Amino acid sequence: MMNNKQLKERGDKVFIGTYARYPAAMVKGSGCRLTDADGKEYLDFMAGIAVCALGHAHPEITGAICRQAAELVHVSNLYYTEPQIALAEMITENSFGEKLFLCNSGAEANEAAIKLARIYSGEGRYKIISFSGSFHGRTLATVAATGQPKFHKGFEPLPEGFLHAPFGDLQALEQLIDDSTCAILLEPLQGEGGVRPLSQEYLQGIKALCDKHGLLLIFDEIQTGIGRTGTLFAYQQLGIEPDILTMAKALGNGLPIGAMMTSAKIAAPFIPGTHASTFGGNPVASAAAVATLKIMLADGFLAEVGKKGDYFQAELNKLVERFPGMISSVRGMGLLVGAVLTEQGVTHGTEIVSKMFDRGFLMNFAGNVALRFVPPLIVTKEEIDSLVGALAEVLAEF
Ligand SMILES: Cc1ncc(COP(=O)(O)O)c(C=O)c1O
Repeated sequence: MMNNKQLKERGDKVFIGTYARYPAAMVKGSGCRLTDADGKEYLDFMAGIAVCALGHAHPEITGAICRQAAELVHVSNLYYTEPQIALAEMITENSFGEKLFLCNSGAEANEAAIKLARIYSGEGRYKIISFSGSFHGRTLATVAATGQPKFHKGFEPLPEGFLHAPFGDLQALEQLIDDSTCAILLEPLQGEGGVRPLSQEYLQGIKALCDKHGLLLIFDEIQTGIGRTGTLFAYQQLGIEPDILTMAKALGNGLPIGAMMTSAKIAAPFIPGTHASTFGGNPVASAAAVATLKIMLADGFLAEVGKKGDYFQAELNKLVERFPGMISSVRGMGLLVGAVLTEQGVTHGTEIVSKMFDRGFLMNFAGNVALRFVPPLIVTKEEIDSLVGALAEVLAEF
């Protein structure tokens, strides 16, 4: 088998350069561990960017995928398939939602939400307000919704009708609303933007503005959803219900699947011909998602995520005390955790991640603000201790 260097050379010849990859080719995974082509082991606190929530090669997910692949892989949405129906039933039974549209990725789920918000709101109401620091995807519409100018650069003109409110300022948000506004779109906790939570009070203020102006409230739970924060969706512990919710990432524990969920009333204008996806809710991806949800919804699983998140945050807070020049605070929900770097720390963010990589720990630096940790939800306290111990050693080097 080829080693890391050989595979990197081969890959660099044939791939368009959209990714700054680490010089490792991963060949095998088990639980929270990955092995690369040189045989080096990693403790994975990235989980494929908050995707492999039940870890790598989970036997029940692998079993469900293999069984379904042996029966039927794909038929398109011209026909019904049982795994897709079972999946939609499980999600709607465990959330506010009544109806789902299935797709393949986060950006695609947000595209569906944007289109639905516009068609439901009627002619002339098309503007969607999102927030500075947000991340909603890489398609043209979702990049336009993303509140970070660095993602817009070079792609202008962007689709019309996307505005960004400054984070934390309700008055400024209300000033952006006019007769052509149809929705407010937000991540209840900004992931890519640096693990930045929206306070409950702020969220309530946003919800009140939606009620006052007759706007739809769209929660992008692509990163926060599917157990990551200790409940199936983050909204379930924030006391605010959105009108539309998008999910993807962890839904298939690694198989590409996403969904846009809403009420029957709001979904009504999405009639045949208005929206579609060839692969959306493919039977194999749906079977993986059903198996994932069965495990997550079993007694005690999600409560344990919350407890492990609290433990992780408490351990990281000890590093704030030990390295006040580098880390200023720890924030997050459940196992979506960020260690916010100080001004000095930020200048070393990429280097910290790189030194951790060399030691065999995977994590990243999000939004040029915080070290971000999104381990599989099955991570153990010992694995958390191991990461925090290595991070302390790395921080001591600065
Ligand atoms: C909150 C949020 N929305 C949307 C997306 C886009 O998802 P995808 O990369 O699956 O298109 C992401 C991906 O990081 C995300 O974190």
